[in-house]
Amino acid sequence: MLFTMTVRDMRLRAEGLISPEAWDYLETGVGGEAGLGRAENAWKSWRFRPRVLRDVSTISTSCTLLGDDLETPILVAPTACHRAYHPEGELATAKGARESGSLLCLSTRSTTPLEDVAAEAGPWWMQIYVTADRGITEEMVGRAVESGSTALVLTGDTPYVSRRARGGEAGPVPEEVAMANVREHMEGRSIDDLVADPSITPAAINWLAELSGLPVLVKGVVRADDAQSCVDAGAAGVIVSNHGARQIDGTIETARALPEVVSAVGRQVPVLVDGGIRTGADVAIGLALGAAAVLIGRPAIYGLACNGAAGVAEVVNGLTAEAAEVMGLLGSTCLADLDRSLVTPYSDALAGG
Ligand code: FNR
Ligand code: LAC
Repeated sequence: MLFTMTVRDMRLRAEGLISPEAWDYLETGVGGEAGLGRAENAWKSWRFRPRVLRDVSTISTSCTLLGDDLETPILVAPTACHRAYHPEGELATAKGARESGSLLCLSTRSTTPLEDVAAEAGPWWMQIYVTADRGITEEMVGRAVESGSTALVLTGDTPYVSRRARGGEAGPVPEEVAMANVREHMEGRSIDDLVADPSITPAAINWLAELSGLPVLVKGVVRADDAQSCVDAGAAGVIVSNHGARQIDGTIETARALPEVVSAVGRQVPVLVDGGIRTGADVAIGLALGAAAVLIGRPAIYGLACNGAAGVAEVVNGLTAEAAEVMGLLGSTCLADLDRSLVTPYSDALAGG
C-alpha cells in the first residue's frame, strides 16, 4: 500500500499555510526543546519481533474504549486554539475525527463553544482543568455532560502552564477567542485563573466523577505510583503523557514510561499514551506495550491546517492504514493480538536478549 501524505508531509505543508505565531505555538516545547525530538526518537528505540505465517488476510483496527465503539485506536488529543489553524477550528476537527471513526478529546481551551463542537462530533471526551473557583469547572462539566461527552479527561501535569520556548502562553488568537468556553467568566480574571488550580490533589478525580457520572481519565501520568494513586482515587483510565514536551524539558519520554504504568494499572483500567507518535509503527509499538489507544496532538493540527475536517480525517486514516499494515506484517489481525512479546528494547535486541 502507498500513502500519498505522511504526517511528515502534512507537517511541511502546514508550516507554509499558517502564521508564524500559530506555528510557534503549535511546535514549541519548553526550555531547550530537547524533549521534542526525544519523544519521537524514543518510539524508535523499540524493535519488532514479528510473527510469520499467521493468516493476516483480514485486519481490524476497531476497539471499544470505555463504552465507545471506535474504528481506530488513534484518538485526537486535546489541543488549544484550533481557530488559529483553520477558520472552522474545532468544528472541523470534530468532523474529521468522526469521519475517521476516531474520538475527539476537546480542550478546555477550545476556540469554539463545546456545545457547537459536540453537535459535529462522534464520540468525544471533555478535557478539564479544575479551576480555583470550582463553580466554573462545575458549570463546564455540566455543559459537557449535557452535550454528550462520554468521559472527562483531567489534565494532571499542568498545575500551571510552563514558560514555553516559543509562542505566547495565551495562544495565537485574541483572548476572547482563546477562552470561548468560559468567556462569561473572564471579567476580572486572567487566563491562569480560568485554567488550573495548582492546589488540586487526587481527590479531584472522585469529585469530577460524582459531579458528572462519567468515567474520569487522568492525563499526564508517567509513573507507576502516580498511576496507582489515580486509580485508587477513582480514575477510570490514565493517559501517559508529558504534554508534548511542553511542561518540563527532560521529562521521561512516554515510550519509556508506558511499560511501568501498564504493569502498575494496565489490568485495572485502560492506559492510553501520547507524545511523538508520527507513524503507524509508533502506534503499533504503543499498543504492543499495552496501551489501549494512542493520541495524536500536533499531527491532527497539521491535517486541520492543510485541509480542515478532510485533513484531520486524512491524518487519522493515513496513520490507521499504516498501523494496520504494520499489524499484518507482525502477524496480528486485531488489536488484542498486539502483545508485549512483539517488541523489545533496542539494547536488548543487540545483546540478543
Ligand atoms: C497541547 N496539549 C494540551 N493538553 C491538554 O490537556 N490541554 C490542552 O489544552 C492542550 N493544549 C495543547 C496545545 C498544543 C498546541 C499542543 C501541541 C499540545 C498537549 C496534548 O494534549 C498532547 O499531550 C501532546 O500534544 C501530545 O504530543 P504530540 O502528539 O503533539 O507529539
Ligand atoms: C498548552 C496548554 C494550553 O500546552 O495545555 O499550550
